[in-house]
Amino acid sequence: MRATEILMNEHRIIEQVLACLEKEALNCDLKNRLEVDSAEKMIAFFKTFADKCHHGKEEDRLFPLLEARGLSPDSGPTGVMRHEHDMGRSLIAGMEEAVTKAKQGDSRAPALFAGVARNYDRLLRAHIEKEDHCLFAMADHLLNESDQALLLRGFEVAEAEEMGHGTHDLYLALADGLAEKYGVERASVECACGHKLHACSTHA
Ligand SMILES: [Fe+2]
Ligand SMILES: [Fe+2]
Repeated sequence: MRATEILMNEHRIIEQVLACLEKEALNCDLKNRLEVDSAEKMIAFFKTFADKCHHGKEEDRLFPLLEARGLSPDSGPTGVMRHEHDMGRSLIAGMEEAVTKAKQGDSRAPALFAGVARNYDRLLRAHIEKEDHCLFAMADHLLNESDQALLLRGFEVAEAEEMGHGTHDLYLALADGLAEKYGVERASVECACGHKLHACSTHA
């Protein structure tokens, strides 16, 4: 499996939690009530799995390698992707702020959360679309076999040493728990992934 396929599989899991976020935003509108416990779980997933782990693999390992193979760090697509990761971080902070307000009993918190959540959802879905259909195709063209193998090893180190053993799997389980709660279909990802991706029957 190529490194870009690992990242695409992770996109499917991120989309699964985005679908839960959309449902929570709708609940906020309909009931003017924020489900704090679930919102905190989603925020934890986006901060750790989506940003620290997944965006970390892109920013620390994939993008520098693509730049070493010719993409401009300033005016190329990796710069745009980094900027969108930063925008996502600001929106996650906005969701955290809304959760804090909800805990303080602020009646405007559900509407605030729903607005920021929808912006985050739109941003991340468009970002994933660009990576899946443009940047990763470019990467597969620019990177040779040993580059892809180097990235795969780097991803394993990122998951095991930088994130901590078991952290990745912990968040896959959290994504499943949220999907069950919100009635969202679990992501379907390819087998032979090397990860314990939950929809993979071999690893289920
Ligand atoms: Fe990205
Ligand atoms: Fe990505």
